[in-house]
Amino acid sequence: MMETIIAKTGEEHIDRVIISEAGAIIKKGGLVAFPTETVYGLGGDALQRASARKIYAAKGRPSDNPLIVHICQWDAIRKITKNLPHAAKLLAEAFWPGPLTMILEKSDVVPVETTGGLSTVAVRMPDHRIALALIEASGGYVAAPSANVSGRPSPTLAEHVWEDMNGRIEMLLDGGAACIGLESTIVDLTADRPAVLRPGYITKEMLEDVMGVPVEAAGAVMEESAQGPKAPGMKYRHYAPAGEMTVVRGKEEAVVAAIRRLTSEKRQMGETVGIICAKETWGCYEADYVEAMGSKGDELAAAQHLYAVLRSFDSRHVTCIYSEAFTGQGIGQAVMNRLLKAAGYHILEAEKTGGKEL
Ligand code: TXA
Ligand code: MG
Repeated sequence: MMETIIAKTGEEHIDRVIISEAGAIIKKGGLVAFPTETVYGLGGDALQRASARKIYAAKGRPSDNPLIVHICQWDAIRKITKNLPHAAKLLAEAFWPGPLTMILEKSDVVPVETTGGLSTVAVRMPDHRIALALIEASGGYVAAPSANVSGRPSPTLAEHVWEDMNGRIEMLLDGGAACIGLESTIVDLTADRPAVLRPGYITKEMLEDVMGVPVEAAGAVMEESAQGPKAPGMKYRHYAPAGEMTVVRGKEEAVVAAIRRLTSEKRQMGETVGIICAKETWGCYEADYVEAMGSKGDELAAAQHLYAVLRSFDSRHVTCIYSEAFTGQGIGQAVMNRLLKAAGYHILEAEKTGGKEL
């Protein structure tokens, strides 16, 4: 086990000494976890094969699951891509730095270890001053998956990274809470039609407005595509809490009634039950743990809290989880996508089934 250094640095007053130390670690082939506006990333040099291998080892992640290359200025994109489409420039102007990842054709300088054997590369410029400073200090190309052990929820706090990565990485930059709380939107620009492979804060509609063409929703909210997942990462059971999880959908009263009944049945069977709900219905439930994710309609609050709530259920050994469905627009779609993934697509229609499990 190596010793992981934790260094705190504010986004307003960035500690330059810490950042240059972190950059030197990455340049030498080491790993540094860092905050972004979406979730914490586990960074290594994107252009060194050995760094990508170390990232996979630290996460316990299969090496055919490609990494996102993080850059800190637009011009950096030219070295790592080829046949760059005009849409990339348009999207960068509209959304970078920000929570959008573009899939592009890769150039030869990007090792296949970084792209999981693919001829395409995922590129993103994060909207976070610490992340941007670190990328610059590291030579400009930082490969970074979310800084969780494979199969656990992405980390939105430095404490989460510490739980998963202590002893596995050289350094952790603690920059406080990630403000969006869900991973970036991924858009594939290499196919005939652009396609969202993973929904996030930047919605399909926002992309269509900028590009002026229809965008497909390949990383659908509801189910994996029949041809198999386009983003290789989507085939793994991500974001999975230890407890058996069910999302309950329908009219509010029916949802509350179904969750109440199921909770009392499960508790009689000796299960430890956790409930994820809106502030408005929080008082309706009696369970071992009831977590409100924010007011109904405040989908950003739900995004910010989801992974921390799932982690807290894990650490309290919750064996059974019920979540109200979060519908709605904008990032609400991404929240629902992550909830369904965490639940292994286990959905219960509160009305149709009279609350019976499907
Ligand atoms: O918000 C984020 O994107 C965070 C922060 C740290 O930037 N990163 C992140 O990385 O979520 P990761 O590795 O946990 O998820 C990256 C996803 C995976 O599902 C992977 O399969 C997909 O992006 N991906 C990466 N490169 C790809 C490529 N060339 N083609 C298709 N999918 C790709
Ligand atoms: Mg991840």
